[in-house]
Amino acid sequence: ITIRQATINDIQAMQNANLHNLPENYQLKYYMYHILSWPQASFVATTYEDIVESNDTEAGEEFGGEKEDPKGDSAYINRGEKIVGYVLGKMEDDPEAEDKTPHGHITSLSVMRTYRRMGIAEKLMRQSLYAMCESFDAQYVSLHVRKSNRAALHLYRDSLNFEVTSIEKSYYQDGEDAYAMRLTLELDE
Ligand code: ACO
Repeated sequence: ITIRQATINDIQAMQNANLHNLPENYQLKYYMYHILSWPQASFVATTYEDIVESNDTEAGEEFGGEKEDPKGDSAYINRGEKIVGYVLGKMEDDPEAEDKTPHGHITSLSVMRTYRRMGIAEKLMRQSLYAMCESFDAQYVSLHVRKSNRAALHLYRDSLNFEVTSIEKSYYQDGEDAYAMRLTLELDE
């Protein structure tokens, strides 16, 4: 698994992962807004998987023939990069926001089911938090999480030391409450 900064070329795959993993979905232009405004703050976790490009015998021969074909069915295999997780981060840019100290916000985080419990989300979060602090002088980072989301709550509270600052009633469209959480950032010298 590789963690790297997200680019504009990743936003479709990030949106797909988001649709798989969370009920809170966003339009592509919102992903684009994040990546263009704060390119350092969003990351993807990637792996390479075999993508069967063609079942055509001639293509199989062209790419080494049957003997070297790992699947033995004359399809040739391409090693394709696959996005298995992402964190979408931003700086607070609402001119109406009460708190004028620069601070970041985690808009969305998810990891595909078969890649969970491997430390990927924690790594994605740490990269984003560090970048917000270093690149944008964020003093703290905030986020919202569903009260019922045990896995995410554990990650934020126990692994990353976020604290619950308030409960926002009916924050989500289906009426569920959110914990508003926050982590003060300090760059290790
Ligand atoms: N139950 C309890 N604790 C968990 C669980 C779980 N199922 N999953 C993760 N944790 C906690 C643990 O403390 C874990 O540390 P440990 O493994 O040493 O005990 C820690 O989080 C780190 O776990 P990771 O392996 O880094 O987390 P993972 O890569 O599995 O991703 C995530 C966690 C993102 C919450 C994943 O379960 C997921 O994608 N869920 C669906 C989408 C989602 O809920 N996203 C967060 C919404 S909030 C927001 O976007 C701001």
